Amino acid sequence: MDRQHLFLIGFMGVGKSTVARVLCERLGLPLIETDARIEAAQGMTITELFRRSGEACFRDLETALLQDLSREAPAVVSCGGGIVLRPGNVRRMKESGSILLLTASPEHILRRVSGNTTRPILNGNMNLDHIRALMERRMPAYLAAADLRISTDGKPVAEIVSEILSALSPL
Ligand code: S3P
Repeated sequence: MDRQHLFLIGFMGVGKSTVARVLCERLGLPLIETDARIEAAQGMTITELFRRSGEACFRDLETALLQDLSREAPAVVSCGGGIVLRPGNVRRMKESGSILLLTASPEHILRRVSGNTTRPILNGNMNLDHIRALMERRMPAYLAAADLRISTDGKPVAEIVSEILSALSPL
């Protein structure tokens, strides 16, 4: 399989969707949001899905979606923050594209996610300690998966996107 998609990974609230929207315009590629695809296919929100069927079921749907995506035309794929938790998912992404990691400090993340109740992983745990601990736990998987890593802290979207575009050319 040729390398084709550009997968955006990173912690919840890092700005994957916002960056992906601008990036796909600049690259002339369609945008795929893994969470939105799963919600549309299941006819319910991620929150409802977690409540009714549990996290493992959601993770299975992410894995199945990644398999389907390897047959789709090149796109910018904005991924749910936990997609790297399964090594098989990372292998699949690497087979079908490049992986771009967006990072931000836990403080920055908290500012972006607080007040939002659509993330079951953070509901009831919307605090800096939890975010910091979860980020530390996940960071090795994010770093191992990434072909490219961009820090977003304090940067406007336009600056993040131009950084990505100049870094992408050698990939
Ligand atoms: C999750 C991140 C969410 C969504 C789900 C689980 C996670 O996506 O896939 O709530 O485990 O990090 P965002 O990263 O877009 O918030």
